Amino acid sequence: GKTHHHTFVVKSSSYTRLCTTKHILTVNGRFPGPTLRAQKGDRMIIKVYNKGEHNITLHWHGVKQPRNPWSDGPAYITQCPIQPGKKYTYRIHFTTEEGTMWWHAHLGWTRATVHGAIIIYPKRGSLYPFPHPHGEVLIILGEWWKKDVMEIERNATIAGGGPLISDAYMINGQPGDLYPCSKPGTFKVTVEHGKRYLLRIVNAVMNDKLFFAIAKHKMKLVGTDGCYTKPLETNYIMITPGQSMDVLLEANRHPSLYYMAASSYFTIVDTEFDNTITTAILQYNGLYHRSPSPLMPHLPAHNQTQAATRFTKKLRSLASKDHPARVPLKVDTKLFITLSINLVNCSSKPCEGPYGKRFSASLNNISFITPSIDVLRAYYYGLDGVFDKDFPSKPPNAFNYTGNNLPQNLLTPDFRTKVTVLKYNARVELILQGTNVFEGDNHPFHLHGYSFYVVGWGFGNFNPRRDPLRFNLIDPPEQTTVGVPRNGWVAIRFRADNPGVWMMHCHIEDHQEWGMKSVFVVKDGANPQTQILPPPHDLPEC
Ligand code: C2O
Ligand code: CU
Repeated sequence: GKTHHHTFVVKSSSYTRLCTTKHILTVNGRFPGPTLRAQKGDRMIIKVYNKGEHNITLHWHGVKQPRNPWSDGPAYITQCPIQPGKKYTYRIHFTTEEGTMWWHAHLGWTRATVHGAIIIYPKRGSLYPFPHPHGEVLIILGEWWKKDVMEIERNATIAGGGPLISDAYMINGQPGDLYPCSKPGTFKVTVEHGKRYLLRIVNAVMNDKLFFAIAKHKMKLVGTDGCYTKPLETNYIMITPGQSMDVLLEANRHPSLYYMAASSYFTIVDTEFDNTITTAILQYNGLYHRSPSPLMPHLPAHNQTQAATRFTKKLRSLASKDHPARVPLKVDTKLFITLSINLVNCSSKPCEGPYGKRFSASLNNISFITPSIDVLRAYYYGLDGVFDKDFPSKPPNAFNYTGNNLPQNLLTPDFRTKVTVLKYNARVELILQGTNVFEGDNHPFHLHGYSFYVVGWGFGNFNPRRDPLRFNLIDPPEQTTVGVPRNGWVAIRFRADNPGVWMMHCHIEDHQEWGMKSVFVVKDGANPQTQILPPPHDLPEC
């Protein structure tokens, strides 16, 4: 493969949206940030200079980074932040991924504006497993916040402080012409009638799941998270924060103007939400008698869990000869992890809002406390006192996870820095069980360093006798982020063949910051080719 070199300068730049101008953190002054393109097997060397005022790290979401957690990026998990004025070089090797992924800052709310796409093409000489598109269109779903996002981050833990809703969703950095002062910038793509386009869609918003559709056009889903899927024809997609999806679009409708649009999908119905949708325009090339106003697609309503489910349950991995599904058929390591939102008394932090308490979140009742030096360094150099190795493989007590009126004592988690240690090559089955502690929600779970197979999911409590009988071990979707349904569960399987320190967390930024995260330490294998690479010389100091 080829080696690509990039320079990323993180700095504050001035942007105007929704009629006002503010400074936001950017890479190279661009928002969304630069797109990274490579072919499978290539390498990338990215020099990052922090010329902003905030600590920063960058993460390559969906890229496995074999044996090289040093370049993975989550702050205090695999590295200390790059401080203002400092630099760090990320080294990336694209080994198995094909399709669309993305990169983003991985320290607090910096990712609200510091993100961009990663596109990995098939190896030189090989083709897509679908008809070759005539063109491709990148669609990054993002948000505009009128307030300073760092200030929003500070207020995010106040319980009952109101939902954290941005002022607009955006497509490629533009709210679209339904918002004030936004008409001239609206993202527009011109297509030729009779041609085929590959849409590469990324959900980079902080907290919200989205529906996306194009007026009068069906889409054909062909990939998720840098893995191919069986082609799936659909009128809309549901995409959670962190996910990326590749869809084919046939430009075969009457030449005209059509809206492409995204709106939110909320599982908590009583939440106040912004019901404005973000739009972009799909325009057929050619001369029209008059300029028609674009047609709006039909998007499911904000609380349409059925619509979300109808789409999600049809996802399958391609599982072809060239792209086989490598699902572990037998497992030797079983983990059962509950996902809960907690409500705790305030000690030092000020508490406002109707509850007089603050939110927290936990996995198996453990709310992750971020250490002050990274877990990876502590593990590699054998430093004591940074983390404990006894993250529980099941919750401390069984309860009716998805029941109503759960006992109040479940509201308080344990605050710890605990990790799960996995043997090299362990065949892992992980059940992620949503709970109704304080309030259930759909939690999009992301695992670093791996892709995994979603072998089963359902609503209610996981039934260890009945549910495994229906697992799909033939062509389950291969993903790096999976939405665990509200008051439901998901079963994933993977082989722990990537040694290192890998974070797993909810990709809803609030939940992640409240502690809904954990870490896997995957041990080295016996031969040097199965061991973690040595650290780079320029690793940032804390
Ligand atoms: Cu997209 Cu740990 O993140
Ligand atoms: Cu969550």
